[in-house]
Amino acid sequence: MAVEFKNFPLEGKLKGISDRQLQEHRDTLYKGYVNQYNRISELITKGDSSTANPHFSEWGELKRRETWAHNGALLHQMYFENLTEANSTKPGTKTTKLIERDYGSLEAFKADLLNAGKVAPVGWAVWAYSVLDKKTHVFLIEQHMNHTPIGVIPLLILDVFEHAYMIDYGTARPPYLEAFWENLNWNTVEERVAMVPGL
Ligand SMILES: [Fe+2]
Repeated sequence: MAVEFKNFPLEGKLKGISDRQLQEHRDTLYKGYVNQYNRISELITKGDSSTANPHFSEWGELKRRETWAHNGALLHQMYFENLTEANSTKPGTKTTKLIERDYGSLEAFKADLLNAGKVAPVGWAVWAYSVLDKKTHVFLIEQHMNHTPIGVIPLLILDVFEHAYMIDYGTARPPYLEAFWENLNWNTVEERVAMVPGL
């Protein structure tokens, strides 16, 4: 089934993220990943897997790009889903409980998330619950697929590719991270946290 591009109408609602920045990111980058994922999926379905070998085959190259486009589309979708009008939502009951359990306070969680965002290379900072130790962590994903944890439930997605803030801030990432925090959609985060077992 083809993946649909979701239009997140956030124009005029975000603090510190301009409409032009939003539109370039959403309508060029995110849409591009959705389109490429659908194209790659179709070509893999029609392709000839019997040509596979460790060196080169068209089918093999498509398989190598499949995860890149898949994660690029889904991470962007989840990123825009967890944005909304600045300061219009607050952390929900389950989210607050989870943050206090794993970080002690909202302030400590904010510091951990945004500092991870400063450390992250080109890629993502993802707050996620791990089935391994049954705790949440902010994982750093390089590009869309390197160092990607398995066995996790993603709860909050922060894009730290330069394309997420370059138009508004040049190469200065910290003010973008503060703006991201102000624009967080805690209702979306609460829906995701509801999937964490044992809360
Ligand atoms: Fe992005």
